[in-house]
Amino acid sequence: MEMNKIEKLEQDVPFKVDVYKGLTSSPKEISSKYFYDDEGSLIFQEITRMKEYYPTRLEMDVFTRNKSDIVKRIENDRIDVVELGAGDGHKTKVLLEEMSKQKKRTKFFPIDISEKAIRELLKNIQSGPGLEVLPVVGDFFHGLGKVVEESLNQKLVLFLGSNIGNFGPGERISFLKGLKDSLNPGDMILIGLDLKKDIQKLMDAYSDPHGVTERFNLNLLKRINRELGGNFKLNQFYHHAFYNPRKGAMESSLLSLKEQEVYIEEYGTSFHFDEFEPILLEHSYKFTLSEIQNMAHLSGLDLVENFFDSSKGYVNSLWKVKAESHLH
Ligand code: SAH
Ligand code: AVI
Repeated sequence: MEMNKIEKLEQDVPFKVDVYKGLTSSPKEISSKYFYDDEGSLIFQEITRMKEYYPTRLEMDVFTRNKSDIVKRIENDRIDVVELGAGDGHKTKVLLEEMSKQKKRTKFFPIDISEKAIRELLKNIQSGPGLEVLPVVGDFFHGLGKVVEESLNQKLVLFLGSNIGNFGPGERISFLKGLKDSLNPGDMILIGLDLKKDIQKLMDAYSDPHGVTERFNLNLLKRINRELGGNFKLNQFYHHAFYNPRKGAMESSLLSLKEQEVYIEEYGTSFHFDEFEPILLEHSYKFTLSEIQNMAHLSGLDLVENFFDSSKGYVNSLWKVKAESHLH
């Protein structure tokens, strides 16, 4: 018997539509949110277990060092925790256990576009005394809209793992403003952000020597083959990641090793690739503390406190919805 009923929401824009747009635009570009089919979610878990991919380890360190102070910042005894892009939830579990220790009655709404990720999360986190788990499979805002309808308590929104780093500068502010508008004064947001650091560390994390990140990127082509009847030959593309200091972001692309045509059955047409032509797949922005302060300010949110790991390479920043922000 299934213990936690999973709520499943419709996709706003289907994969098929976005991939067509991406392959016909110049330069070619497909959103990193499509990495996370069943196989992609499992490869992402592999990434988080690699020593080179430090963000997971650092965020875990932030929580183990600061969990008591983070939870003490929540005033109410009843709290609805909403997590956007929750993944397997293994770090979140540390916070939920601390909430239970501090006698909070918690409803936990993990939202993820990947059903596989939610199923992995349910292996780590289950309902029990003082904790009700209400999982949602769907896009961030679609899921959030659904949760907000059901939630009556003070909310703590978790946006962990530097997920915000996958948005561009304009996109992230409109995302945060949208988030703020769907919350109430006094609600809180705990946001995980990777800080700017030594470029070699970034390169090792996003271009790892084991080839796991390359497999993660190539899986998107596999997904197109599987779901849209594409004939991408995976050995004719390779993963390229570099740090763009002007953007302050890692940029990941797949490059075509030769001039080629790729046929996709669903569209009944072929797509041309020049030799070394890229498909841009992901930006992973890195931040400074003043950029983070500014981000909160531009989104109309109050920065309450920053919590760090021991190396100060990563921050979980706690923000609050202002009392007056619902007047306009
Ligand atoms: N927060 C987790 C997982 C990060 S991976 C951690 O820190 O380890 C990013 C997660 O966000 C994936 O599980 C992916 O499926 C999900 N995701 C990406 N884009 C999304 C979107 N638009 N809506 C909902 N979930 C999304
Ligand atoms: C989920 N997201 C924040 C990860 C990141 O670091 O940008 C995804 C990832 N891409 C390559 N490795 C991990």
